[in-house]
Amino acid sequence: RPNHHQSQSGSTPWQNPLCSRGLSTRRELYERDFPVYKQPVEVGCFSLDSERRFFNDSRQLRYYAEPDRNPHFDLKDGYKDRYVKRDENLKEKLDHILRWILSHCPYVDFVTWRGHLTKLLTTPYEAREGWLLAVTRFRGTLYISEVETEASRRERENRTERHAEMMYWGYKFEQYTCADNVHSLPDPGGVVNTNEGFCTVVQTRLSDHRLLFSGEVDCRDKDPKAPAPPACYVELKTSLEITTPKQFKLIKWWAQSFLPGVPRVVAGFRDHDGVVVAVETFPVSKMSQLIKNCWKPTVCMNFCCDFLSFVKQTATEDDPGVVYLFSFEPHRDVTYSIHRDSQYSFLPHWYVDEITR
Ligand code: A3P
Ligand code: MG
Ligand code: MG
Repeated sequence: RPNHHQSQSGSTPWQNPLCSRGLSTRRELYERDFPVYKQPVEVGCFSLDSERRFFNDSRQLRYYAEPDRNPHFDLKDGYKDRYVKRDENLKEKLDHILRWILSHCPYVDFVTWRGHLTKLLTTPYEAREGWLLAVTRFRGTLYISEVETEASRRERENRTERHAEMMYWGYKFEQYTCADNVHSLPDPGGVVNTNEGFCTVVQTRLSDHRLLFSGEVDCRDKDPKAPAPPACYVELKTSLEITTPKQFKLIKWWAQSFLPGVPRVVAGFRDHDGVVVAVETFPVSKMSQLIKNCWKPTVCMNFCCDFLSFVKQTATEDDPGVVYLFSFEPHRDVTYSIHRDSQYSFLPHWYVDEITR
């Protein structure tokens, strides 16, 4: 794990008077020493059941059952007769994390989903998809919650039947490789229900930013002597390219697992017909070497760090109804706008009331 000291040299890109209202996303500006990123510590977890109900425990955690290196997993099996798909029109925002926070009361600078941070990490390399992140300062803490862009909503609503089926394949791979408990085996005859999930809650620090975030974890090592979470967790992926996935896919895999300290990714390589024919384990610590000349983890982490500093500087009004909406489009600076008691407000009343009580 690279964990060098933060570079003291140079001004951060948003202090440049030429872009005082924006944050540059140009890669060259972020090629400094790797910032301090403390070993992430799991401070809790929660589960979401088949009806997306919240439980303050690990009931949905599954156990990795190592498959044959050359299996024959048909990912199309069960589509659509054994498939219950989560309703993507329901926007949960930070609600599950907020619910967890109410029973644990940690104090941090930032609260968000791991997936939002993954998007920040890959921003300097993103040429296709923009993002919108809503930020609210409440009692000193900055909450970051994604807002779906128009482009992403259109893409979601116009998904081809082929694309919709391929989204199922990743979950089907999980079903072939995960068991419900230590002593059971995977059940490929069961239903794939994407409402279900196990989420880890981790605390860490990126430079001077204290972070609390949650991310979905696919499964854990079933050996009871395996190291404590998050080191025992395993991320599962599927990929079309045999032996090593495409560069941009690898950077996303790296970012997603590096953030919560998940040490390995198990990749199922499939053919065009959705049959997994090879399985390979990738240590997250070795991923950046596979792609060294293409993308740099230090650029990802320094950009994220500078974005969080930009947010701290910008989102100064402490009010649960105020949203600072940060916007990114590929090859552009990050810009923001301010919205009071608007459609963008995302901290629910039950949370604000309970914290204020
Ligand atoms: P793959 O990982 O094999 O692509 P995750 O890997 O994060 O645990 O997500 C599990 C699966 O959800 C993915 O499997 C993929 O099938 C589906 N999925 C997640 N995010 C997606 C997205 N933005 N578009 C399409 N499919 C997605
Ligand atoms: Mg997952
Ligand atoms: Mg996965």
